[in-house]
Amino acid sequence: MAQGSHGLMTTSKYAAGSLLSIADLPVAEVSAVLAETARLETMPQSERAKMLAGRRVALLFYESSTRTRTSFELAAKSLGATTTLVSDKSSSIEKGESLKDTGLTLRALGAECIILRHPASGAPFLLARETGLPVLNAGDGMHEHPSQALLDLRTMLTRLYGSERAAAVNAASLRGVTVVITGDILHSRVARSNAMLLPRLGAKVLLCGPERLLPEDARGLGEGVEIVRDFDGALRRACSEGLAVAMMLRIQKERLAGLELNLGDYIARYQLNAERLAACAPEALVMHPGPMIRGMEITGDVADGANSAIEDQVTHGLAVRSALLVRALGVGGFESVRV
Ligand code: CP
Repeated sequence: MAQGSHGLMTTSKYAAGSLLSIADLPVAEVSAVLAETARLETMPQSERAKMLAGRRVALLFYESSTRTRTSFELAAKSLGATTTLVSDKSSSIEKGESLKDTGLTLRALGAECIILRHPASGAPFLLARETGLPVLNAGDGMHEHPSQALLDLRTMLTRLYGSERAAAVNAASLRGVTVVITGDILHSRVARSNAMLLPRLGAKVLLCGPERLLPEDARGLGEGVEIVRDFDGALRRACSEGLAVAMMLRIQKERLAGLELNLGDYIARYQLNAERLAACAPEALVMHPGPMIRGMEITGDVADGANSAIEDQVTHGLAVRSALLVRALGVGGFESVRV
């Protein structure tokens, strides 16, 4: 077992406190993140602001973001950290500087943790290896978005069972819950991270979409994950088996690479609209990681309706990312695992 850069025990070759893949977090550690999230949320702001006082956090974004970037930044600031944002559009990345050199530069400037969004799958692993710093994966290509899966989990627990059930989890916490993830699964790091996390807590995950956006070889995501093509049937099945969650995804035009879709047909088969929701899953919790394209994968009335947890997801993102920063920098509820 290695000792991480901040004295945390780790079995990984990356710095303790890194979050590169949701697969790296055992259920007990997921539970610890949720417990710390709850603890930070009830802490007086004057105390919160001391948690990371004097610490330096860098946000390194090679792709656009509203929710992830802003919530990590606001979370770090509310904990007292100093933050700096480096984006590919306004930095020496535009001149051709490599990810490695950008990371080493941030480390030389005193960054103690880097939050990275990058279009290349696996980029956070490279950055973590080259800098030795804790790295938080804020979305890498078509690979993963682990903090999104954690905030989605907290949103589900809170909306389905109440906030008191959202501060700890075990392998049965989501037993009886079926999550229908629908849309552009092929390009979705959100779908992948959720499909890797939720079944470990007892949920069933149904991945739903047309062949082009959900190829048969998407199988192999693990136990508790199935591919279905019929959205109405999936929603009905989710309701009949217990608690239903409809998680909608945007079609990622920027990653389609020439793939043509008949949008009229797509909307007819896969759009979550008020009629479909009422007919197939009137009690379902409606989620979307954003950004949403209203009128495409979801209609405005459903997005703004009583079943929707979409704004809750954003709020939980701020809370969960606070805990991830505390974990990355080895303080708060994560101090106890220091050696
Ligand atoms: N869900 C999500 O990652 O949103 P942003 O791209 O706005 O960060």
